[in-house]
Formats: sequence, C-alpha cells, structure tokens
Amino acid sequence: MAHGAEESGWKNRDVIDILGFTKNELLDLFEETDKFVEQGSDFGEPLRHKIVATAFFEPSTRTRLSFSSAALRLGAKVIDLSAEVSSLMKGESFADTIRMLEAYSDLIVVRHPSEGAALFASEISSKPVVNGGDGSQHHPTQAMLDVYTVNKLKGGVDGLTYALVGDIKYARTATSFLYALTKFNPRRVYAVCPEALRPRAEVLKRLEGLGLRVELGLELEDIIGELDVVYATRIQKERFPDQSEYEKVKGSYRLARTVMEKAKRECIILHPLPRVEELPYELDSTPHAAYFKQAAWGVPLRMALLKLILGG
Ligand code: CP
Repeated sequence: MAHGAEESGWKNRDVIDILGFTKNELLDLFEETDKFVEQGSDFGEPLRHKIVATAFFEPSTRTRLSFSSAALRLGAKVIDLSAEVSSLMKGESFADTIRMLEAYSDLIVVRHPSEGAALFASEISSKPVVNGGDGSQHHPTQAMLDVYTVNKLKGGVDGLTYALVGDIKYARTATSFLYALTKFNPRRVYAVCPEALRPRAEVLKRLEGLGLRVELGLELEDIIGELDVVYATRIQKERFPDQSEYEKVKGSYRLARTVMEKAKRECIILHPLPRVEELPYELDSTPHAAYFKQAAWGVPLRMALLKLILGG
C-alpha cells in the first residue's frame, strides 16, 4: 500500500462505479496487480476458504471468465448462476436471486442490462457486490483494467492525449474510462464519433463538473498524429431503443490501417472487446495493438481486486 490508501478500506468493499475510488486506491490496486503479473504462477491460495458467485444476466466472455480464472488462481471456489436455467425462469425476482447468492457465496459479481442493478444488489446483499457491467452506465473493473494498461504500457496516465473512438453514448466501457480519467491529468481527451453516438449530456456535465473536458466534433485523421492512446469501442447494437437508429450509424466508422499509419509509433490502441467491424484484424500485427495484452491483464487485475476485498 504505497500510495496512502488503507488496506482495510478495501475489505468487503462493493465495486459499483469507478468514481467511488481515489487515484491512490487505483495506484495501490495496480501495484498489487503488478505483483501477480510478475509472479506468474503459484499464488499460494490465499482465498482457499472463499466462494465467488458470478451472476451474468447478459452475455460475457472476458469479465465472467477472468473473474472465474482470478478466483480459481487464488484458491477460491466459483459458483455460476446461469440465468437461463435458474429459477428466474420460474418467475423468481432479481432481489430474491441476489439473497440466495448472498447466502451461498462470499462475493457476487453481477452483470445486468438494467442501469443501477448492481447498486440495487449491493443494497440487498451484506456480501460485497462487484458490478460486471450495468446497462450503458458503469463497468468499473474494465475501467480499472484500461487505466492499468495505459499506466503499464505508457509509464503513467497523466499528460497523455486520448481519443475515444466509436460508440461513446451506449458503451459503458467508454463512459467508465472517461470517469476513470477524471482521477488523473490527461493532456487532452477527444471523443471521435457520429453525432448520434456522442457522450450523453448528463455524462458530459458530470465529467465537466469533475474537471474533464471532452473535445467533440473532430475527425480521427485530423488528430491522429498527436494521440498517445486510441480507445475504440463497438457500436452497442443491443442498447439502441430504436433499431432504425442503429441502422443509421451501423458501420459508420472503422479504425483504418491507413489512418493508424499516420499515428506515432508508440500510440497504443485499446479496445475492451468484443470487436466487430470497427477494429480490423490487420491492425493486430502492428505495434499499436494493445487490446489482447489489455484483456489478458484482466486476470491479474481481478486477482488483485478479489484479494484486496476478500483477503487479509
Ligand atoms: N470487455 C468486456 O466486458 O467483455 P465481455 O463482455 O466479454 O465481458
């Protein structure tokens, strides 16, 4: 705990949104993550008496499996609620389902399509609840991972120029990343997207209140040369209230190789994944591609988080 945060502040803590964490707490988390990255294997099973529950009411590969992998690597057991074969199908409420997970486990990771679902679960459960994504709102552990990746690959988060590219309106990863940047001092932050996918007015207002100005209305080609980090997101088809609105922006942007060729060699591309057409496979072999490293670090970062919350 080198940055001043008390370790006890993590114990049994809910993780609902990234704004609830201080910069020092994030740096402490990164330091703990680094230890697991360096250690590589044989972690001594510090959580061998713990049970982690994963309850995902929306599809997931990375968040669900990296939490499971992190728990198992620390010696914890994992139970998984598969919504489609659970008593939810018989009409059981979300609240009662959380009460059962509270009784059966020591920590609940929940993903839900409704904004506020994780907060609601945390109000019901006496056991810590980790938000694995709620609607278009928050994805705090992804934001922790994204900032960790920047910190690790760029040697810091401050003083860099960032462009978020794609769906900044519905992608909770993009919103959470912007919220995370309010804890640091970026040089400039751009949102490059069609007008229909700009950050929501209430999000921009909140960011502004927290001292982060997001510059809108520019083309990637015009700013690519000054960027240190490109954060790309998929257009979140499933979140559009009106599919005809999705059709209007579908395929409206793509991180073209010809554009990335004009970037600084050290400019990194992050993407929370999954990707569809916005991030061409041909970029995978360029020095800019950092997204698979980013996804892989999801395990040590979530190990550090579980250990801080459940360990001690
Ligand atoms: N980044 C992310 O949340 O991926 P999954 O939807 O696969 O969990």
